Amino acid sequence: MASSARYYADPSAATKFATELLEKCGLSSEDAKSMAKCLVLADVRGVDTHGLARLPQYLDRVSNGRVNAKPNFKLTEKTPVVAHLDGDNGFGFVVATRAMEEAVKRAEIYGIGMVTANHSNHFGMAATYVLQALEKDMISLVFTNSAKQMPPFGGKETLLGISPFAAGAPSNTEVPYILDMAPSVVAKGKIRKAARRGESIPLGWALDAEGNPTTDAEVALNGSMAPIGGPKGSGIAILMDIMSGVLGGAAFGGEVGDQYKDTKPQDVGHCFIAIKPDVFLSTDDFKARMDTLVKRVHSATPAPGFDEVLFPGEPEHRLGVQRHREGIPYAEAEKEMFVDTARSYGIAELVLSAAPLSLN
Ligand SMILES: NC(=O)c1ccc[n+]([C@@H]2O[C@H](COP(=O)([O-])OP(=O)(O)OC[C@H]3O[C@@H](n4cnc5c(N)ncnc54)[C@H](O)[C@@H]3O)[C@@H](O)[C@H]2O)c1
Repeated sequence: MASSARYYADPSAATKFATELLEKCGLSSEDAKSMAKCLVLADVRGVDTHGLARLPQYLDRVSNGRVNAKPNFKLTEKTPVVAHLDGDNGFGFVVATRAMEEAVKRAEIYGIGMVTANHSNHFGMAATYVLQALEKDMISLVFTNSAKQMPPFGGKETLLGISPFAAGAPSNTEVPYILDMAPSVVAKGKIRKAARRGESIPLGWALDAEGNPTTDAEVALNGSMAPIGGPKGSGIAILMDIMSGVLGGAAFGGEVGDQYKDTKPQDVGHCFIAIKPDVFLSTDDFKARMDTLVKRVHSATPAPGFDEVLFPGEPEHRLGVQRHREGIPYAEAEKEMFVDTARSYGIAELVLSAAPLSLN
């Protein structure tokens, strides 16, 4: 049975550790730091599936030449508010951070900015780029596509990605709105975990290879993921492909490379839209009105089985506050992986504590 022990890392030490590893792989200091920050941010917010645990796989992709460690980005202005970024097969984190920066820059001047990107790779937690826009008090929409793992509604074969859609809006004293959702019922990791433990999965999570709903986790792994709400989740996944792949000039319709299996570049597409609220009303007014909305949602009477009603993004926000205070808890297997990786790349190990930390 897996150990339940947890080892705590200071987020800034984790960022330094990941930065050094990525630099060893040939990324510039700036890009290594930017990508490390994205990965640690996911861990801080409890999106552990998209954090440092993925580092070895990303490092492998650089060493085997599947990702370009030193991309030469090409930005093309389409109109004053719209631009396109060719990511030159760089890491999705770096491409996406630059593309959102460009969208925000345009929104600062014109009220709205939109940037599509192609020739990119997996960009991790979509909320990362919403948080980037929130730092500048911007409303944002984030689209990406990804490798096929889900059939279109009514179909048998996988064609659509489990591509997360994210959106954000700033508030003043209350939590900001951060929706970050994949269009599948659950993440594939949950099915892998059930299969490892020999457990069944609830009906509705996944389909077998024939397109029938299944409760058998092993069968599900050879089948496909089920979209949320049938045609609705499938429709959102198609929208992700339209905004990122079709519009952005990237791969689409089942052709995005699989980062676990394919040797070809992924050619993931993204699309980022930033909106400055004061095109419509002052940013202060907008944020005050957002505070009212958050308070109204919070004041809803909890339904049976609920203690309180939360705003989208609030569970991750709360974990973030806790983890900035106590450190990020990593499992035994992750601790071992960090030690092995540090040794193979000849860098200092990440300092981990067996008890929660007391950080400022
Ligand atoms: N880059 C990729 O290709 C890719 C693919 C799949 C998933 N992901 C990432 O995986 C992560 C997990 O995705 P997911 O769909 O499993 O997310 P999830 O189901 O955990 O959360 C979806 C949304 O629901 C909100 N939420 C959850 N509980 C809530 C509550 N009680 N009250 C109010 N709001 C609540 C969350 O804040 C979040 O905005 C995301 O960060 C996503 O970007 C990335």
